[in-house]
Amino acid sequence: MSVVVSALQRAYDEVRQYSLALAEPLSAEDQGVQSMPDASPTKWHLAHTTWFFETVVLKPHAPGYRPFDERYAYLFNSYYEALGPRHARPQRGLLTRPSLEDVHAYRRHVDQAVAALIGKADADTLAGVEPLITLGLHHEQQHQELIVTDLLHAFSCNPLLPAYRPASSPGDDRRREAPSSAHARARALEWLRLEGGVVGIGHDGDGFCFDNECPRHDYLLRAYEIAHRLVTCGEYAAFIEDGGYERPELWLSDGWAAIQREGWNAPIYWIGEEGASDGNWQVFGLTGVQALDPDAPVSNLSFYEAAAYAEWAGARLPTEFEWEAAFDAPGIEQMTGHVWQWTRSSYDPYPGFRPLAGVAAEYNGKFMVGQQVLRGGSIATPPGHTRPTYRNFFPPAARWQLTGVRLVRDL
Ligand SMILES: [Fe+2]
Repeated sequence: MSVVVSALQRAYDEVRQYSLALAEPLSAEDQGVQSMPDASPTKWHLAHTTWFFETVVLKPHAPGYRPFDERYAYLFNSYYEALGPRHARPQRGLLTRPSLEDVHAYRRHVDQAVAALIGKADADTLAGVEPLITLGLHHEQQHQELIVTDLLHAFSCNPLLPAYRPASSPGDDRRREAPSSAHARARALEWLRLEGGVVGIGHDGDGFCFDNECPRHDYLLRAYEIAHRLVTCGEYAAFIEDGGYERPELWLSDGWAAIQREGWNAPIYWIGEEGASDGNWQVFGLTGVQALDPDAPVSNLSFYEAAAYAEWAGARLPTEFEWEAAFDAPGIEQMTGHVWQWTRSSYDPYPGFRPLAGVAAEYNGKFMVGQQVLRGGSIATPPGHTRPTYRNFFPPAARWQLTGVRLVRDL
């Protein structure tokens, strides 16, 4: 087995195994539930990521491949119009069949076929399938984060407020670069000055990236200063205490309409009386209900809440370009591994953007309207998944992702 093949097989095995490890603490019932149209059951994520390999790698490139079940193409296609009709997203929770056991067998079937394909591939075949398998692995890592965030939302709808993992457990932090709990006392916020000028934005060089990170291009920035760390829960509690959710002058029009319509008066997983003092809030999270940690980065904010907080704080959200240019700034902290950071940039194609060829053309480009870019990565992002140029995106009202705030100010 060549070095390339064994490295690819090792990466494949590691990513596929990590999905199962994330699901390991969950019952079959936990893995079948869908709490809202935006969130999917764990079982669906486990099957859909498998369908991706079957559809993009095996069917076109493995001669004689026999699908595990032809009907799964309808059940587990997410949004690929070119691949035909599919089961409605809001009804994924109704799929009590196939069973979880069947989905595990589907995963094994596809894993064996992928191993057979790359094990006996000639150089040309390998050159063709390696980029597709790599894309499939990064795709599965994106769904690994969704397994966690979607499950957290489902658990938040259960009056028992179950814990996904015990507070003291190292959990899935085996490769984590940043701590997920027990935050040290947050230092007073410092502002780091950046001079701006023409900066390079986007991916270049070797290594994997998604099409939306390309092409690298020049961007002109004015001088600005950026917060050395993320906004904390304690700071966000002060915003609430100061009537943050009752002052329309702090909010974008759509945001003010959203909080009126939805009755929002705190982050989605905060538990407490309206106007509760900082010390009285509790927060529901992966370890169940915990007292609010005032030093932990605030999480699960919508873009609207992030923008209103920034306005209240006399600052603003960074553009994605300011964020990327500050990635290595001396003294900057918490750029990855805590919460995704909302930016003021709408999710648009970079100048010269071209979608990937083939089926993967639908991966990113068609979502480039009505969404905001987020940068960084969260405690649920698989270790090693993101880069400084990585562009995540969600609609401005989304609150079930692990999303927070970093501030910038004009000079
Ligand atoms: Fe997907």
